[in-house]
Amino acid sequence: MMNPPKKLFIETLGCAMNVRDSEHMIAELSMKENYELTTKMNEADLILINTCSVREKPVQKLFSEIGVFNKKKKEGAKIGVCGCTASHLGKEIIKRAPAVDFVLGARNVSKITEVLHKKGAVEIDIDYDESAFAFSDFRSSQRKAMVNISIGCDKQCTFCIVPNTRGVEIAIPANLIVQEAKKAAQNGAKEIFLLGQNVNNYKHEGVDFPDLLELVSQIDEVERIRFTSPHPLHMDDKFLEVFAANPKICKSMHMPLQSGSTRLLKEMKRGYTKEWFLNRAKKLRDMVPDVHISTDIIVGFPGESDEDFEETMDVINQVRFEQIFSFKYSPRPETKAAEFTNVVDASVASERLTCVQARQDELLDEIAQASMDKVYEVYFEELRNNGGVAGRADNSFMVQVEGSDELLGLTKKVRITNPRRKVLYGEVID
Ligand code: 5AD
Ligand code: SF4
Repeated sequence: MMNPPKKLFIETLGCAMNVRDSEHMIAELSMKENYELTTKMNEADLILINTCSVREKPVQKLFSEIGVFNKKKKEGAKIGVCGCTASHLGKEIIKRAPAVDFVLGARNVSKITEVLHKKGAVEIDIDYDESAFAFSDFRSSQRKAMVNISIGCDKQCTFCIVPNTRGVEIAIPANLIVQEAKKAAQNGAKEIFLLGQNVNNYKHEGVDFPDLLELVSQIDEVERIRFTSPHPLHMDDKFLEVFAANPKICKSMHMPLQSGSTRLLKEMKRGYTKEWFLNRAKKLRDMVPDVHISTDIIVGFPGESDEDFEETMDVINQVRFEQIFSFKYSPRPETKAAEFTNVVDASVASERLTCVQARQDELLDEIAQASMDKVYEVYFEELRNNGGVAGRADNSFMVQVEGSDELLGLTKKVRITNPRRKVLYGEVID
């Protein structure tokens, strides 16, 4: 007789890439090791923390969390630390927290079933190529599916730790991507979310990212395509034209600005200027009237003067982003910028962050108001505690209507009747 399943508790921090890595680990553990997921840490036989190291705070939190887990876990339960902090700190983690059984880097996910049985294992080789590894299948949502198109990153942004945790960029062959997207779509995922650290830099045997978008859109069962993250530098006309013209591509674009100052962008090694960024954003808005543009902004990068910061505010005011993720610069080990000595005072960085967020709140009120009476195509995905059903409009706005389960998994036209900053409330018209 088969033993009852063992229980796995997994905490996932960081970006979409980590979410997909967690799905891969869950798949491997359930198919090969008879694990099933639990949301209760103290019932788990295996506790995994899939970490992010992009900023310092979550790294500090990791060690206090390991302490808590170790105190409250079931006797004999194992703790594994995975992801970017695992790649970055390696065996240091076990030294600092001996309760940890193994450390598995962000580029070694496929080895989860090996390290599980090796107390003290540290697998963090960032040159490891698992781009063609045939992972077992697991998806946390049947309605949307994440599909990796590349691993690693070749950019050398001076603030960023990712090249040290995920290694160089390797493109996954287009036929494997299409095959995986097709399988997921045939299993009910109408929405495919293509993932890479730098998606529009994709190139494999003559297939570039716009070609790949077209290939995925040719899968009949796929209704919507999203992707993250593109890089502003690689937003050439071909890419924008395919984005605008292909009806299956959701009209939502992430354009990580980081800074509006060309001088600082150079220090960050971003490869574009303020003018290029504004030019691309304008072209996008001209071509796609209802486009949703999101961005990432870092304030307090070394040497950021008041004038530099004003340039950032100027881009915010010109582009009127539908969403901004803003961060205070956090020096990361082994990055170029960590050696820069012209540090910005922490209180100045905090003020700038507040300034970005306050301005964005004002803009968001205006942006939300402008959606009054508009009609969006909404793919309903979740029941809300307050009785409604919510989903994303084609252009990524969160939309909620009255209703229940019967709407889940359906795409409907919704007229916006009560637009708020974070959620646009409306009614189904078709
Ligand atoms: N400090 C602050 N923010 C950072 N990001 C990346 N590295 C750092 C850092 N050292 C932000 C960037 C990136 C997002 C994922 O995280 O804005 O786009
Ligand atoms: Fe965090 Fe970056 Fe790693 Fe994603 S790739 S988990 S954002 S450090």
